[in-house]
Amino acid sequence: VISKNISLKSFNTLNIDSKARYFAEISDMDQLKSALAFSSREKIPFWVIAGGSNIVIREDLEGLVLYIALKGVQVLDEGSSGLVIASAGEVWDELVEFCLDRGLFGLENLSLIPGSVGAAPIQNIGAYGAEVAQAIEWVEVWDIKNRSLRKLSAKQCEFAYRDSIFKGHLKGEVVITRVAFRLQKRFQVNLAYGGLREAVQALVNDGEVQQNAEIEATLIRQIVCQMRRSKLPDPSVLPNAGSFFKNPIISNAKCQQLQQQFPEVPLYNQMDGSIKVAAAWLIEQAGWKGKDLGQVGVHALQALVLVNKNGGSGTELLRLADKIQCSVKQLFDITLEIEPQIIP
Ligand code: EPU
Repeated sequence: VISKNISLKSFNTLNIDSKARYFAEISDMDQLKSALAFSSREKIPFWVIAGGSNIVIREDLEGLVLYIALKGVQVLDEGSSGLVIASAGEVWDELVEFCLDRGLFGLENLSLIPGSVGAAPIQNIGAYGAEVAQAIEWVEVWDIKNRSLRKLSAKQCEFAYRDSIFKGHLKGEVVITRVAFRLQKRFQVNLAYGGLREAVQALVNDGEVQQNAEIEATLIRQIVCQMRRSKLPDPSVLPNAGSFFKNPIISNAKCQQLQQQFPEVPLYNQMDGSIKVAAAWLIEQAGWKGKDLGQVGVHALQALVLVNKNGGSGTELLRLADKIQCSVKQLFDITLEIEPQIIP
């Protein structure tokens, strides 16, 4: 069923009140096929949305919105691991909890990230020392041109920091339908993120847990949830789309220059030898933390998060983003790249 002139306000976590000319809720493959056929017959563009937690809707969408509501989770027992196959419309954090309840580990550091399972591989969601790419076995997509389902291995997905083939080559070519996760039955704690390591150490010091051997995945989930809640605004209370910019990757020369000028600059060495600088720090130095511009603003506790305080539009948010980018460019000669997908 295709509806007309639907407000998207409740379909994006920034609460932007733009309209979709046409809107179809997709609960099965037949609905997906017929909605795509409608878009090609009417020669109108389409956009796929699900949790709506990583999009900025710039203006009304003169086309068709496919709201992905494909549901279902399957677990295959495969010896020391399990393969969890989840449909794209499943809620991400519900899947994390489902897996932990079944003693399948690997997603716990990614607890409480808003959004859907199908969106997770697109930007390769990451937090607290983990990226979803590490757990993905394959991604099933509906290939729009060939009208067929196919599976992409993790390698074929070309995962990188907040990036994948779904943002590049395959953008607009496929619709993600299911994602398979390889999860382990034996829990191995990942304390790569400093803040998480410190939080666990504090519990050890307090005698609440005895050394790493006793750390359970559910404890990691609890700590991650606590950390997120303490810094990141809950979209249902203060509309936002998480980090609005990527942490920029900078050259070694740039890194040395920054360190000389600002010895306290937070830098992160990547596995591949490149260096990331904390965008939140750059934005804070540029004086934007906690600042408002009309109905929108920069979160007071995390400068990387833009918030929609009072019914601001997509254009207003992008105007604020542009001002921030200009300040950071001027001050540090670093270009900030917007992280959520902008539509249209
Ligand atoms: N910092 C500031 N000012 C701030 C906030 C942070 O100077 O207002 C500094 C912190 O002191 C720290 C550094 O910036 O030294 C990094 O901060 P944090 O660890 O909070 O993480 P982040 O780099 O700002 C990234 C992800 C988040 C993820 C966290 C935790 C990106 C774009 N963002 O943020 O992901 O939750 O690490 O792992 O990589 C998201 O993508 O939507 C998201 C929330």
